[in-house]
Amino acid sequence: TTSHLRHVESMASFPSGAGKISHLNAVILGEALASEENNLVLPSHNFSRQALIPSPHKYLEMYKRSIEDPAGFWSDIALSEFYWKQRWGDEVYSENLHVNQGNIKIQWFKGGITNMCYNCLDRNIHAGLGDKIALYWESNEPGFDAHLTYSHLLHRVCQLANYLKSIGVRKGDAVVVYLPMLLELPITMLACARIGALHSVVFAGFSSDSLAQRIVDCKPKVVITCNAVKRGPKTIHLKDIVDAALIESAKDGVSIDVCLTYDNQSTFRRESTKWQQGRDIWWQDVVPAYPTTCEVEWVDAEDPLFLLYTSGSTGRPKGVLHTTGGYMVYTATTFKYGFDYKESDVYWCTADCGWITGHSYVTYGPMLNGATVVVYEGAPNYPDSGRCWDIVDKYKYVTSYSRKSLRVLGSAGEPINPSAWRWFFNLVGGSRCPISDTWWQTETGGIMITPLPGAWPQKPGSATFPFFGVQPVIVDEKGNEIDGECSGYLCVKGSWPGAFRTLYGDHERYETTYFRPFPGYYFTGDGCSRDKDGYYWLTGRVDDVINVSGHRIGTAEVESALASHPQCAEAAVVGVEHEVKGQGIYAFVTIVEGVSYSEQLRKSLILAVRNQIGAFAAPDKIHWAPALPNTRSGKIMRRILRKIASRQFDELGDTSTLAESGVVDQLIALADS
Ligand code: WTA
Repeated sequence: TTSHLRHVESMASFPSGAGKISHLNAVILGEALASEENNLVLPSHNFSRQALIPSPHKYLEMYKRSIEDPAGFWSDIALSEFYWKQRWGDEVYSENLHVNQGNIKIQWFKGGITNMCYNCLDRNIHAGLGDKIALYWESNEPGFDAHLTYSHLLHRVCQLANYLKSIGVRKGDAVVVYLPMLLELPITMLACARIGALHSVVFAGFSSDSLAQRIVDCKPKVVITCNAVKRGPKTIHLKDIVDAALIESAKDGVSIDVCLTYDNQSTFRRESTKWQQGRDIWWQDVVPAYPTTCEVEWVDAEDPLFLLYTSGSTGRPKGVLHTTGGYMVYTATTFKYGFDYKESDVYWCTADCGWITGHSYVTYGPMLNGATVVVYEGAPNYPDSGRCWDIVDKYKYVTSYSRKSLRVLGSAGEPINPSAWRWFFNLVGGSRCPISDTWWQTETGGIMITPLPGAWPQKPGSATFPFFGVQPVIVDEKGNEIDGECSGYLCVKGSWPGAFRTLYGDHERYETTYFRPFPGYYFTGDGCSRDKDGYYWLTGRVDDVINVSGHRIGTAEVESALASHPQCAEAAVVGVEHEVKGQGIYAFVTIVEGVSYSEQLRKSLILAVRNQIGAFAAPDKIHWAPALPNTRSGKIMRRILRKIASRQFDELGDTSTLAESGVVDQLIALADS
C-alpha cells in the first residue's frame, strides 16, 4: 500500500529550525488506506474533505507562516476572531527566554484591552448564538440533566459576578473554587473572568490539607464550594473538607470571610450540612437575587486570568499563572483546529475543570468558539462501563450505544499506547474518526503537539506534529539541539501565546525549573523521540513526576506525606509501569526503630497520603526498606529503586557509588513481602 503514499516534495524552502519539519517525509494520501507496513492510519477521504486542515500541504503552509511571522499569524487571528476594546500597542509579542539575558519574560498583545468572559458569552450572543445550547449538564445519576443556552449562561454568570462584587471581590483578587463538575463550576470561572478576579480551581478530589495549602498560597477573598456530590455510588462531603481546610489555613494566618456554598440538592440534605454562621452562605439564598446583567471589567491582555496549581519534581505544588489575551487566542485556536470544530458539533471533554484540560477544553476554548459542551458530573463507569457511550448517544439523540454521531476523538494528559489507540480508533470510533492525541501541559495553556484531524496519516501512539506557532526541539544532555531521527529531552524554542507567564509569587522558581536546565529554551520535563518521518513520540517524564491515570503527582509530595507519619523514618517514591493507570506509585519506606512491619501500618501510611494529597495519590505498593540506597554524599539512588520496583534485578547497573552495598540485596529480598 505504500504506493498510495506520495512524498511531499522537498521542504527546502522551509526555514531551518522551524520545528525541524524539514525532516518530514510527509505523506499525502491518494486513498483512504491504512498502511500496516508503515504503521500509518490514514484519515478517511470523507473526513479530510470537510476538515479545516484537509492536507499536510495546508498544514505546512500555515505552520510555515506561524513560525516565520508569528506576529502576523497570531495578530490576524486575534483581530478577526475576538473582541478588543482597544488594540494592543506596536508589539504583538515580546519575549526573553534566555536566563543569561535577564529575567524571563513573555508578553502577548500587551496593551490590548479585552475580557475573556465577554469573548466567551456576549460576543457570541451578539453574533446570534443567544439561543444556542452552551452547556448540557449530565448528572452522576442517569436521568437527571439540565442545560443552559448562551443567553441563560450569561445571566447566571452575571448574577454571580454581581454577588462577588457585592462582597468586595475586585480585579486582581483571587477566588478559590472547590467544586465538582456542576454547571456552577464553569459559571464561577466565567464570573471571575468577567470582573477581572483570578480563579484558582482546586480539583475536588484533593484533600483538605492540599486545599489549605493552595488557600494559604493565594489568600483568596472567598472560597466557593458545594455541600456534597455523588461520584459513582459514593457521596463526598465537600463542605466538610472545606471546613477542615479553613481551620488549617487559619493556623497559617489566612482566614476566609465568605464560604459560598452551592446546595447540591440532588445528593445531600441542606439541613445536614455543617454550618458556620456569618461565614457560610448558601449560593441559592443570595446569588439569584442579583441582576442578570453585569458590566464587564476590561483588562489588559497581560492581566492574570487564573492560577492553577500543579506538581513539580520538588517542593510544593506550583501556582501556574496564565494571563488573559494570549491564553484566550491560543485556547480558542487550538480548540478549533485541534478538534476540527464545526458549529453543529456537540462536544464533550471528560476532563474535570480542576485540571488544565477542563480549563482550556471544557470552559474557555469551546465557549470562545460558541460550541455546545457536555459537562458530566460523575464517574465514567457509573452505573456501568457503558455510561460514556450512553452520554454520547443521548446528546445526539440516538439510542443504544450507536456512537454513530462521533466525528473526532481526543486524548490528553498521558501517552496513549498503541493498543489502547487501536481500541479507541477501531471500536469506539468505528475506524472513521481521527484521534487527536494532544500533548501539552498545565504550563503550556493549550495543545502543543497534535495530529490535526484529517490532515495527517496517524501513527498510533505518536502525538504527531507541532501546532501552529510551536517549535519543539529535542536536545541532548548538554542542551544541544539534535536533528532528524533522535531521542532526548523535549524543549520548546520561542514563545507561543498560551504559555504561562510565571509561578505565582515565585518568578525565580519559574526560571530555575523551566528555563535554566537548557538555557534558551523552555524545558518541558518530558522525554521525546522523533522518528524518520518527523513524527514526535512522547516517552514520559524525565524528572521525578509520576503520571497516574493522567493525574500529575510529584514524588516529593508523596514522600513528604509518608514522612509525616510518626512511624516513618524515610521514604522514597518512584513511578512504576501500570497496566491500567499508565504509571503506579511505588513507595520504599523505612520505619523508625522498634516498630515492626504490619498490614495495619501499611494501611495507615497509605491513609497519610490520602489525607495529605488525595485518594488519587495513594501508593499502589509499599516496599519495606531496612535502609535506602544512598550514595556516599547522601543522595538516594532512584535509578536503582526504579529497577527494583520494576523487578529488573539484573539491570541495576553500577552500584559502586553506594555508601553501603548490602542495602540493595536487602531490598531485593523484601520485594514481595
Ligand atoms: C503528559 C495535561 C504523552 C506529559 C494536559 C506532560 C502526555 C504532562 C500527553 C502534563 C500526550 C500530556 N502524550 N504524554 N498526549 N499529554 N502528557 O500538566 O508528561 O496535567 O508533561 O497537563 O502529561 O500534565 P498536565
